[in-house]
Amino acid sequence: KALKLGLLAMLVFALAVALVGCGGSEPAKEPAQEQAADPGASKLIVGSDTTFAPFEFADAATGKYIGFDVDLIEALCEEAGYELVFQSMSFDGLIPALQTSQIDAAISAMTITDKRKEVVNFSDTYYKSGLIVAVQAKNEDIKGFDELKGKKIAVQSGTTGAMEAEKVPEAKITYFTNTDQALLELKNGAVDAVINDYPVSAYFVQQGNEDVKLVGDILSAEEYGIAVPKDKPEVLEKLNGALKTLKENGKYAEIYKKWFGEEPK
Ligand code: ARG
Repeated sequence: KALKLGLLAMLVFALAVALVGCGGSEPAKEPAQEQAADPGASKLIVGSDTTFAPFEFADAATGKYIGFDVDLIEALCEEAGYELVFQSMSFDGLIPALQTSQIDAAISAMTITDKRKEVVNFSDTYYKSGLIVAVQAKNEDIKGFDELKGKKIAVQSGTTGAMEAEKVPEAKITYFTNTDQALLELKNGAVDAVINDYPVSAYFVQQGNEDVKLVGDILSAEEYGIAVPKDKPEVLEKLNGALKTLKENGKYAEIYKKWFGEEPK
């Protein structure tokens, strides 16, 4: 009888240890979107500023992150054998997060620039873009970049749009962490113009914001790339390999058409 009791006690003890072990080990994490993949796949933590429709934004109905970049990185991870962990964060936090290896890559409609190339690596180009000026539809005097002198300009911090605004003489620049906020500020009439990526401002106007219009020519040819920490060349190589495959097998074109309604340029 004593033996039986002893066994029972051991069993209870083992169970308690197991329960505590399960509950206590996992630290609370930021909600991240995980994609089911084969269990052997290694995780790839990918950062993105999800306020940039149609590239990365939260679906109004489900709250899930969707967009061209989201579909592309999902397809790339599947092709390269990574389990994707998608992490939403501010745009100006992406490069620091890459430098400290908090994330393994960033896909965020990020323009490949020489300055950024000093601190991170970029994949091959996956989208060709450029900057545009947006103003209120009723605005008659700003017709493009040349009329911005001394104007109030809203931009997203850390972007090429912000860098362009900084070149405008006597401009009064307001910086936002969010592109949405900058465009809403324009809608509300608090600023005269927004300098931002053309496809994103065009999408904003299309989404029922006809009180905003785009003026002038698209400035500067910009190319988007996936940013990767300098010390992760194997990630860069795998992503480039997968991108090449998706461009060849039609998957890239399929995703492009889904979001832009046309064949890739
Ligand atoms: N292409 C611009 C840049 O690289 C803006 C990108 C902003 N992206 C975003 N997801 N908010 O600076």
